[in-house]
Amino acid sequence: MSKGSILIVDDESEIREGLELLLNTEGYSASSAETGEAGLALLDEKPFDLILLDVSLPGRNGLDILCEIRRRDPNLSVVLITAYGSIDMARAAFKSGVQDYITKPWSNEELLVQVAQAVEGRRLREENVHLKRALKQRYNFPNIIGKSEKMLAMLDLVAQVAPSRSTVLIHGESGTGKELIAKAIHSASPRADKPFVAINSGSIPVDLLESQLFGHVKGAFTSAVASKKGLFEVADQGTVFFDEISTIAPETQAKLLRVIQEREFMRLGGTETIKVDVRIIAACNVQLINLVREGRFREDLFHRLNVIAVPLPPLRERKLDVPLLLEHFLAIFCKENGRAMARFTPAALRLLVDYDWPGNVRELENVVERAVVLSSRESLDVDLLPESVRTRELLGGVRLHLSEFISELPGEAGSRAGAGSATASLFQIMDEIERRVICDMLERTEWNQTEAAENFQIPLSTLNQKIKRLGIDARRRGPARAAESSASAT
Ligand SMILES: Nc1ncnc2c1ncn2[C@@H]1O[C@H](COP(=O)(O)OP(=O)(O)OP(=O)(O)O)[C@@H](O)[C@H]1O
Ligand SMILES: [Mg+2]
Repeated sequence: MSKGSILIVDDESEIREGLELLLNTEGYSASSAETGEAGLALLDEKPFDLILLDVSLPGRNGLDILCEIRRRDPNLSVVLITAYGSIDMARAAFKSGVQDYITKPWSNEELLVQVAQAVEGRRLREENVHLKRALKQRYNFPNIIGKSEKMLAMLDLVAQVAPSRSTVLIHGESGTGKELIAKAIHSASPRADKPFVAINSGSIPVDLLESQLFGHVKGAFTSAVASKKGLFEVADQGTVFFDEISTIAPETQAKLLRVIQEREFMRLGGTETIKVDVRIIAACNVQLINLVREGRFREDLFHRLNVIAVPLPPLRERKLDVPLLLEHFLAIFCKENGRAMARFTPAALRLLVDYDWPGNVRELENVVERAVVLSSRESLDVDLLPESVRTRELLGGVRLHLSEFISELPGEAGSRAGAGSATASLFQIMDEIERRVICDMLERTEWNQTEAAENFQIPLSTLNQKIKRLGIDARRRGPARAAESSASAT
């Protein structure tokens, strides 16, 4: 299968033929045209993934042709071919959504990387468009990106429960999209045109929370100079979203239980029972059942909330969604900042896909925004990624998950430091990190210490000293392997 179809528009036959040959050899299917008009005619005949467009064409110039191309297919990737002097012109073209430019003369290697990126960019843009359309058709959830099995299974469940009045408990790590899903449920329900009221119980003191939820009558407390409706009344016939439900105080838990069971409550200081029709969606980022076991959350309320449990998978368990989400947020932030569409270089993409995303989609969104704001370049490279994402690169590719590492540290470093020590000193921690990094490198070089020392850019003798001091059993692995293989040879 072809890697992608490419149209070359250039008036120099040498360039056309050279590029066509290069791209066809690399597995693309390339065609070419000598003038802009001929290029447009080809474009009308069959679809292309990418156009390599010379800016200085005889007759209508490249920028003119570019506008025509955009009108035909706004998602098509376009890479401009420019002579050295016309870079400014190429920059102007970025405003028309050009992905990249190549300056004559180019290196074939770089050109192929640029072509691959542009074709991939087109694929992702199209996929996002299709995905959004499909998700909208299937679920009527715009703005939710995801094609991993876990996300689709979750969306299936959400689509199924949305039309009902059932209480939903959304559980997921911070930044996984709990609020987004709560809103999607509301929008896909018959309550869509009624209020969606979100309340974060964690950030409000008990008294204030109760008066906000249930309202109060005049004189209920000193500052209650007039009666006031609570959120439950405001949200009547709509949805109330309890964010961070785990933080709600025991007294309020009891009152909330009553609202869910009886759909009624009293204003603070009031005697009249008020009936409401609200749907309740709750979210939490801890396992609520654990709080029940610890006696910190009412069991009856938990069961009332947990009628439909919607677990949101962390991003590290659906890496397939990472490139799509990156593309989605790149489009949003580039548009917001009034600039041409930017993209990440393959090296940056690799780090972004490899990264564990402890802050999930919110963290990814922030990383994209940061990169877009920090650079006006169209190509966003590794240097624009925060250190957390680059850790792997900074460590020379060594796998080191600091969070996991630190959580297991006291025991390990403690036992190394002698029984009974509950915490580790900074030196012990640094030693442990050094030990792991060296072991990891030795594994990667198949215990070739010379190669490992070279990779670390330190003398072999220094590496030897470290191996000895840290008690790494490097000898055992090397000769042991040799012994094993000689044993099996005999
Ligand atoms: N699948 C997704 N597609 C597109 N955007 C998403 C997706 N999931 C989350 N987001 C975006 O990520 C950001 C964080 O989502 P949201 O606030 O819903 O997460 P949360 O789980 O409520 O986080 P927290 O626990 O920190 O409150 C929002 O800007 C949201 O629009
Ligand atoms: Mg939230």
